[in-house]
Amino acid sequence: SEHARWTGGFFVGMLWLAGLLREDDAIMQIARSWALRLKPRATDRTTHDMGFLFEPSCVRGNNIQPDAELRGMAISAGQSLASRFVPNGCYIPAWDPSEGSEYLALAIVDTIMNLPIVSWAAKETGDDKLQDIAVQTTETIIQQHVRPDGATYHVVDHDPNTGEVTHQGTHQGAHDNSCWTRGQAWTLYGFTRMAVMLNSDETMAAARNTADYFVNQMGDMIIPTWDFDRKGADEPVDSAAGAIAASGLLELGRRTGEETYTRTGERLVHGLIDTCIDFDNPEKTGLLMHGTVDYPRRSGVDESIIYGDHYFMEALVKLRRPDLW
Ligand code: GLY
Repeated sequence: SEHARWTGGFFVGMLWLAGLLREDDAIMQIARSWALRLKPRATDRTTHDMGFLFEPSCVRGNNIQPDAELRGMAISAGQSLASRFVPNGCYIPAWDPSEGSEYLALAIVDTIMNLPIVSWAAKETGDDKLQDIAVQTTETIIQQHVRPDGATYHVVDHDPNTGEVTHQGTHQGAHDNSCWTRGQAWTLYGFTRMAVMLNSDETMAAARNTADYFVNQMGDMIIPTWDFDRKGADEPVDSAAGAIAASGLLELGRRTGEETYTRTGERLVHGLIDTCIDFDNPEKTGLLMHGTVDYPRRSGVDESIIYGDHYFMEALVKLRRPDLW
């Protein structure tokens, strides 16, 4: 997919945060112009990534200063994502079969982090059907991806004819029964957000369950390794997973009043500052070093990753400027 793949919204989201922090209209204008560049993607029905693309860019922009054009793009994006819902099985396939026939009925846990834009669009438009899709997809993810111990399966495949689950496993993790760290971070953050948006106790219980697993698995690690079943000292870490989990745990801590979540979120932020930033080298391309995109394919190992930077900045705002949260 051209035009910013799945990551094109994060840089824009950081510009909005910078504009807010600096109270600088010029930065906000730049953020808006970059957000508008995503317009051709708002009607893209070939991917689940619509929340990643349009929440930091358009929903955040419209929240900061009401903007009919950005709001319209975000509504379209939510509708495009909802259009992927498969009633026969109640799931949203993540990727497009044109990129591989094996993707036809394949769901991934990361989708939970894209669902808020569907629920947001439902509220903006009053379209109950959108909200139903957000509710049903959230329930399916809880039932099919979360194990009793709170770990998650990255991928769940379905029989396209019956909707039944045919396989639970992984794409970016170490093996089918391991727990891919970044997927777990998306899950705890995504469930927290959906629990609030849907006012759902069941979803909040899933947020706690997956967050507890993450917190327990961290043990003494400063930054999580790429998979919780690969914790050796020589395993690559994933600073992006750490940043996403930090921002999500701070959110969960605020919503539940549970200190453990808040403390772990703070600890992760400090760990990222201490071990993933090169203060002697401010011209580096990214803020955080040591991200891991896809270790099994050796793709993007030990790199700076834009979504890591985005959620790190979010977490910093939550800690240092809670008035803007
Ligand atoms: N699909 C998003 C990720 O790789 O984290």
